[in-house]
Amino acid sequence: MNIRSLKLVYFSPTGTSRKIVEGIGRGIGAARTVRCDLTLPGGGAGHPAKMQEDLIVIGAPVYAGRIPGVAADRLLRLRGANKPAVVIVVYGNRAYEDALLELNGLARERGFMPVAAGAFIGEHSYSDAEKPIAVGRPDGEDLLAAENFGKTIRQRLDAIDRIDDLPALQVPGNIPLNDRMVLPAAPPVTREDLCTKCGNCVFLCPTAAIVLSERLTTDAQACIHCCACVKGCPEMARIMEDVSIRKIAQWLSTKFQQRKEPETFFSF
Ligand SMILES: Cc1cc2nc3c(=O)[nH]c(=O)nc-3n(C[C@H](O)[C@H](O)[C@H](O)COP(=O)(O)O)c2cc1C
Ligand code: SF4
Ligand code: SF4
Repeated sequence: MNIRSLKLVYFSPTGTSRKIVEGIGRGIGAARTVRCDLTLPGGGAGHPAKMQEDLIVIGAPVYAGRIPGVAADRLLRLRGANKPAVVIVVYGNRAYEDALLELNGLARERGFMPVAAGAFIGEHSYSDAEKPIAVGRPDGEDLLAAENFGKTIRQRLDAIDRIDDLPALQVPGNIPLNDRMVLPAAPPVTREDLCTKCGNCVFLCPTAAIVLSERLTTDAQACIHCCACVKGCPEMARIMEDVSIRKIAQWLSTKFQQRKEPETFFSF
Protein backbone atom coordinates (compact mmCIF):
# COMPACT_ATOMS: atom_id res chain seq x y z
CA MET A 1 0.00 0.00 0.00
CA ASN A 2 1.29 3.40 -0.88
CA ILE A 3 0.79 5.81 2.05
CA ARG A 4 0.82 9.26 0.50
CA SER A 5 -1.45 11.05 2.95
CA LEU A 6 -1.85 10.75 6.70
CA LYS A 7 -4.33 12.12 9.22
CA LEU A 8 -3.38 12.60 12.87
CA VAL A 9 -6.47 12.65 15.11
CA TYR A 10 -6.07 13.32 18.82
CA PHE A 11 -7.67 14.44 22.05
CA SER A 12 -4.88 15.71 24.30
CA PRO A 13 -5.54 18.26 27.07
CA THR A 14 -1.95 18.34 28.39
CA GLY A 15 -0.26 17.56 25.08
CA THR A 16 1.38 14.17 25.75
CA SER A 17 -0.93 12.15 23.47
CA ARG A 18 -0.41 14.76 20.75
CA LYS A 19 3.40 14.45 21.05
CA ILE A 20 3.24 10.66 20.65
CA VAL A 21 0.86 10.83 17.70
CA GLU A 22 3.11 13.46 16.05
CA GLY A 23 6.16 11.22 16.67
CA ILE A 24 4.44 8.26 15.01
CA GLY A 25 3.44 10.57 12.15
CA ARG A 26 7.08 11.63 11.65
CA GLY A 27 8.09 7.97 11.50
CA ILE A 28 5.41 7.17 8.91
CA GLY A 29 6.67 10.13 6.88
CA ALA A 30 3.77 10.64 4.45
CA ALA A 31 4.08 13.31 1.77
CA ARG A 32 1.00 15.07 3.19
CA THR A 33 -0.08 15.13 6.85
CA VAL A 34 -3.25 16.77 8.16
CA ARG A 35 -4.21 17.16 11.80
CA CYS A 36 -7.62 16.87 13.44
CA ASP A 37 -7.34 18.11 17.02
CA LEU A 38 -10.44 17.11 18.98
CA THR A 39 -9.26 18.56 22.29
CA LEU A 40 -11.20 21.81 22.38
CA PRO A 41 -14.99 22.16 22.14
CA GLY A 42 -15.81 22.24 18.44
CA GLY A 43 -12.37 20.76 17.65
CA GLY A 44 -12.29 19.03 14.27
CA ALA A 45 -15.40 20.89 13.11
CA GLY A 46 -13.68 22.05 9.91
CA HIS A 47 -12.76 18.48 8.93
CA PRO A 48 -14.92 16.22 6.77
CA ALA A 49 -16.28 13.41 8.96
CA LYS A 50 -15.40 10.86 6.27
CA MET A 51 -11.71 10.02 6.21
CA GLN A 52 -10.02 10.76 2.91
CA GLU A 53 -6.38 10.05 3.82
CA ASP A 54 -4.54 6.75 3.22
CA LEU A 55 -3.81 6.15 6.93
CA ILE A 56 -5.20 7.60 10.17
CA VAL A 57 -3.49 7.68 13.57
CA ILE A 58 -5.89 8.17 16.49
CA GLY A 59 -4.60 9.02 19.98
CA ALA A 60 -6.18 9.69 23.38
CA PRO A 61 -5.13 9.61 27.04
CA VAL A 62 -6.15 7.01 29.62
CA TYR A 63 -8.54 8.15 32.36
CA ALA A 64 -9.15 5.45 34.98
CA GLY A 65 -8.39 2.64 32.54
CA ARG A 66 -10.64 4.01 29.79
CA ILE A 67 -10.40 6.80 27.25
CA PRO A 68 -12.08 10.02 28.46
CA GLY A 69 -15.84 10.03 27.77
CA VAL A 70 -15.60 13.38 26.03
CA ALA A 71 -12.89 12.00 23.69
CA ALA A 72 -15.07 8.98 22.87
CA ASP A 73 -18.02 11.29 22.11
CA ARG A 74 -15.92 13.44 19.78
CA LEU A 75 -14.50 10.40 17.98
CA LEU A 76 -18.06 9.25 17.26
CA ARG A 77 -18.28 12.06 14.67
CA LEU A 78 -15.69 10.37 12.44
CA ARG A 79 -16.33 7.88 9.65
CA GLY A 80 -13.46 5.56 8.90
CA ALA A 81 -14.49 4.62 5.33
CA ASN A 82 -12.54 1.32 5.67
CA LYS A 83 -9.25 3.19 5.96
CA PRO A 84 -6.38 1.59 7.92
CA ALA A 85 -5.88 3.12 11.37
CA VAL A 86 -3.34 3.08 14.17
CA VAL A 87 -4.86 3.42 17.66
CA ILE A 88 -2.82 4.90 20.49
CA VAL A 89 -3.38 5.46 24.19
CA VAL A 90 -1.09 7.46 26.46
CA TYR A 91 -1.10 6.81 30.20
CA GLY A 92 0.59 8.25 33.27
CA ASN A 93 2.84 5.29 34.15
CA ARG A 94 0.18 3.45 36.22
CA ALA A 95 -1.84 1.27 33.80
CA TYR A 96 -3.94 1.51 30.65
CA GLU A 97 -6.28 -1.38 31.51
CA ASP A 98 -9.19 -1.36 28.99
CA ALA A 99 -8.42 1.93 27.22
CA LEU A 100 -6.72 0.46 24.16
CA LEU A 101 -9.41 -2.19 23.76
CA GLU A 102 -12.04 0.55 24.00
CA LEU A 103 -10.33 2.75 21.39
CA ASN A 104 -9.76 -0.22 19.07
CA GLY A 105 -13.46 -1.15 19.35
CA LEU A 106 -14.59 2.43 18.83
CA ALA A 107 -12.40 2.76 15.73
CA ARG A 108 -13.85 -0.44 14.26
CA GLU A 109 -17.38 0.69 15.09
CA ARG A 110 -16.74 3.94 13.20
CA GLY A 111 -15.59 2.04 10.09
CA PHE A 112 -11.80 2.18 10.52
CA MET A 113 -9.60 -0.89 10.03
CA PRO A 114 -7.10 -0.82 12.93
CA VAL A 115 -3.83 -2.43 11.81
CA ALA A 116 -1.54 -1.41 14.67
CA ALA A 117 -1.84 -0.08 18.21
CA GLY A 118 0.34 1.29 20.94
CA ALA A 119 0.29 2.22 24.62
CA PHE A 120 2.79 4.96 25.45
CA ILE A 121 3.61 6.86 28.63
CA GLY A 122 3.08 10.57 29.32
CA GLU A 123 3.62 12.76 32.38
CA HIS A 124 0.63 12.22 34.64
CA SER A 125 -1.92 15.03 34.56
CA TYR A 126 -1.79 15.13 38.38
CA SER A 127 2.02 15.31 38.52
CA ASP A 128 3.56 18.41 40.09
CA ALA A 129 6.80 19.37 41.80
CA GLU A 130 5.69 17.84 45.13
CA LYS A 131 4.16 14.68 43.64
CA PRO A 132 6.14 13.89 40.48
CA ILE A 133 4.69 11.13 38.26
CA ALA A 134 6.42 10.25 34.97
CA VAL A 135 7.82 13.78 34.76
CA GLY A 136 8.87 14.94 31.30
CA ARG A 137 7.43 11.99 29.43
CA PRO A 138 7.22 11.39 26.59
CA ASP A 139 10.99 11.98 26.67
CA GLY A 140 13.58 11.50 23.92
CA GLU A 141 13.48 7.72 24.24
CA ASP A 142 9.68 7.62 24.05
CA LEU A 143 9.64 9.86 20.97
CA LEU A 144 12.28 7.71 19.29
CA ALA A 145 10.15 4.63 20.06
CA ALA A 146 7.13 6.43 18.56
CA GLU A 147 9.07 7.33 15.40
CA ASN A 148 10.44 3.79 15.02
CA PHE A 149 6.93 2.41 15.49
CA GLY A 150 5.77 4.74 12.69
CA LYS A 151 8.61 3.56 10.43
CA THR A 152 7.72 -0.09 11.03
CA ILE A 153 4.05 0.58 10.27
CA ARG A 154 5.09 2.25 7.01
CA GLN A 155 7.40 -0.63 6.02
CA ARG A 156 4.77 -3.26 6.76
CA LEU A 157 2.04 -1.41 4.88
CA ASP A 158 4.39 -0.84 1.91
CA ALA A 159 4.86 -4.61 1.71
CA ILE A 160 1.16 -5.50 1.28
CA ASP A 161 -1.37 -4.73 -1.47
CA ARG A 162 -4.59 -4.60 0.56
CA ILE A 163 -5.70 -4.64 4.18
CA ASP A 164 -9.11 -6.32 3.70
CA ASP A 165 -7.78 -9.82 4.34
CA LEU A 166 -5.73 -8.97 7.44
CA PRO A 167 -6.76 -10.59 10.74
CA ALA A 168 -8.49 -8.34 13.29
CA LEU A 169 -6.07 -6.46 15.54
CA GLN A 170 -5.84 -7.95 19.04
CA VAL A 171 -5.02 -5.67 21.99
CA PRO A 172 -5.05 -6.18 25.78
CA GLY A 173 -8.13 -5.37 27.86
CA ASN A 174 -11.28 -6.97 29.19
CA ILE A 175 -14.93 -7.04 28.15
CA PRO A 176 -17.00 -5.71 29.86
CA LEU A 177 -14.84 -2.61 30.00
CA ASN A 178 -13.96 -0.98 33.34
CA ASP A 179 -16.74 1.30 34.57
CA ARG A 180 -16.03 4.94 33.81
CA MET A 181 -14.73 6.77 36.87
CA VAL A 182 -17.20 9.08 38.61
CA LEU A 183 -15.19 12.22 39.29
CA PRO A 184 -15.65 14.19 42.51
CA ALA A 185 -17.28 17.55 41.71
CA ALA A 186 -14.05 19.30 42.64
CA PRO A 187 -12.38 21.19 39.77
CA PRO A 188 -9.11 23.07 40.23
CA VAL A 189 -9.46 26.29 42.20
CA THR A 190 -8.01 29.69 41.29
CA ARG A 191 -5.66 31.63 43.53
CA GLU A 192 -7.15 35.09 43.08
CA ASP A 193 -3.98 36.73 44.38
CA LEU A 194 -1.95 35.22 41.51
CA CYS A 195 -4.51 35.23 38.68
CA THR A 196 -3.98 38.02 36.12
CA LYS A 197 -7.22 37.14 34.26
CA CYS A 198 -5.22 36.46 31.09
CA GLY A 199 -7.84 33.93 29.95
CA ASN A 200 -5.35 31.24 28.94
CA CYS A 201 -7.12 28.59 31.04
CA VAL A 202 -10.47 29.52 29.48
CA PHE A 203 -9.01 28.88 26.03
CA LEU A 204 -7.31 25.60 27.05
CA CYS A 205 -10.30 23.95 28.75
CA PRO A 206 -11.59 21.02 26.62
CA THR A 207 -15.11 21.28 28.04
CA ALA A 208 -15.53 25.08 28.25
CA ALA A 209 -15.92 24.68 32.00
CA ILE A 210 -14.16 27.95 32.86
CA VAL A 211 -15.82 31.35 32.49
CA LEU A 212 -14.01 34.64 32.98
CA SER A 213 -16.06 37.67 33.99
CA GLU A 214 -15.48 39.67 37.20
CA ARG A 215 -13.66 36.61 38.43
CA LEU A 216 -12.96 33.11 37.16
CA THR A 217 -15.66 30.48 37.75
CA THR A 218 -15.48 26.77 36.95
CA ASP A 219 -18.43 24.50 36.25
CA ALA A 220 -17.73 21.50 38.51
CA GLN A 221 -20.04 19.21 36.52
CA ALA A 222 -18.32 19.99 33.21
CA CYS A 223 -14.75 19.63 34.54
CA ILE A 224 -13.04 16.37 33.53
CA HIS A 225 -9.99 17.01 35.81
CA CYS A 226 -7.67 17.01 32.79
CA CYS A 227 -5.37 19.64 34.40
CA ALA A 228 -4.87 21.56 31.15
CA CYS A 229 -5.71 24.75 33.08
CA VAL A 230 -3.35 23.83 35.94
CA LYS A 231 -0.39 23.06 33.68
CA GLY A 232 -1.19 25.88 31.24
CA CYS A 233 -1.52 28.74 33.73
CA PRO A 234 1.53 31.00 33.37
CA GLU A 235 1.07 32.28 36.95
CA MET A 236 0.60 28.87 38.64
CA ALA A 237 -2.72 30.23 39.84
CA ARG A 238 -4.79 27.06 39.14
CA ILE A 239 -4.47 24.40 41.80
CA MET A 240 -5.96 20.94 42.23
CA GLU A 241 -6.87 21.39 45.87
CA ASP A 242 -9.36 18.58 46.43
CA VAL A 243 -8.15 16.31 49.25
CA SER A 244 -9.19 13.04 47.56
CA ILE A 245 -7.35 13.95 44.36
CA ARG A 246 -4.26 15.04 46.25
CA LYS A 247 -4.28 11.66 48.02
CA ILE A 248 -4.52 9.85 44.68
CA ALA A 249 -1.62 11.93 43.33
CA GLN A 250 0.45 11.10 46.39
CA TRP A 251 -0.32 7.38 45.98
CA LEU A 252 0.58 7.47 42.27
CA SER A 253 3.79 9.34 42.99
CA THR A 254 4.97 6.80 45.55
CA LYS A 255 3.65 3.58 43.96
CA PHE A 256 4.42 4.13 40.28
CA GLN A 257 7.95 5.49 40.18
CA GLN A 258 9.32 2.53 38.23
CA ARG A 259 9.55 3.47 34.58
CA LYS A 260 7.13 1.68 32.25
CA GLU A 261 7.96 1.31 28.56
CA PRO A 262 5.80 1.66 25.42
CA GLU A 263 4.05 -1.45 24.05
CA THR A 264 3.06 -1.92 20.43
CA PHE A 265 0.78 -4.37 18.60
CA PHE A 266 0.27 -5.29 14.93
CA SER A 267 -2.42 -7.22 13.11
CA PHE A 268 0.11 -8.33 10.46
C1 LIG B 1 -9.02 11.93 35.41
C2 LIG B 1 -7.72 11.26 35.04
C3 LIG B 1 -7.59 9.89 35.13
C4 LIG B 1 -6.38 9.26 34.78
N1 LIG B 1 -6.29 7.89 34.86
C5 LIG B 1 -5.12 7.28 34.55
C6 LIG B 1 -5.00 5.86 34.62
O1 LIG B 1 -5.95 5.13 34.86
N2 LIG B 1 -3.78 5.30 34.42
C7 LIG B 1 -2.68 6.07 34.15
O2 LIG B 1 -1.58 5.50 34.06
N3 LIG B 1 -2.78 7.42 33.98
C8 LIG B 1 -3.97 8.04 34.17
N4 LIG B 1 -4.09 9.39 34.00
C9 LIG B 1 -2.95 10.15 33.46
C10 LIG B 1 -3.06 10.43 31.97
O3 LIG B 1 -3.42 9.28 31.27
C11 LIG B 1 -1.70 10.92 31.43
O4 LIG B 1 -1.24 12.00 32.17
C12 LIG B 1 -1.74 11.30 29.97
O5 LIG B 1 -0.40 11.44 29.57
C13 LIG B 1 -2.50 12.59 29.70
O6 LIG B 1 -2.62 12.77 28.31
P1 LIG B 1 -2.68 14.22 27.59
O7 LIG B 1 -1.36 14.90 27.89
O8 LIG B 1 -2.81 13.89 26.17
O9 LIG B 1 -3.81 14.98 28.20
C14 LIG B 1 -5.27 10.05 34.34
C15 LIG B 1 -5.43 11.43 34.22
C16 LIG B 1 -6.63 12.04 34.57
C17 LIG B 1 -6.75 13.52 34.42
S1 SF4 C 1 -4.43 31.09 33.04
FE1 SF4 C 1 -3.97 31.50 35.19
S2 SF4 C 1 -3.63 33.69 35.30
FE2 SF4 C 1 -4.65 33.30 33.34
S3 SF4 C 1 -6.86 33.58 33.80
FE3 SF4 C 1 -6.39 31.41 34.10
S4 SF4 C 1 -5.92 31.20 36.28
FE4 SF4 C 1 -5.78 33.38 35.78
S1 SF4 D 1 -11.49 23.25 34.38
FE1 SF4 D 1 -11.37 21.04 34.49
S2 SF4 D 1 -11.77 20.36 32.35
FE2 SF4 D 1 -11.27 22.55 32.26
S3 SF4 D 1 -9.06 22.59 31.86
FE3 SF4 D 1 -9.32 22.71 34.09
S4 SF4 D 1 -9.20 20.59 34.81
FE4 SF4 D 1 -9.55 20.52 32.57
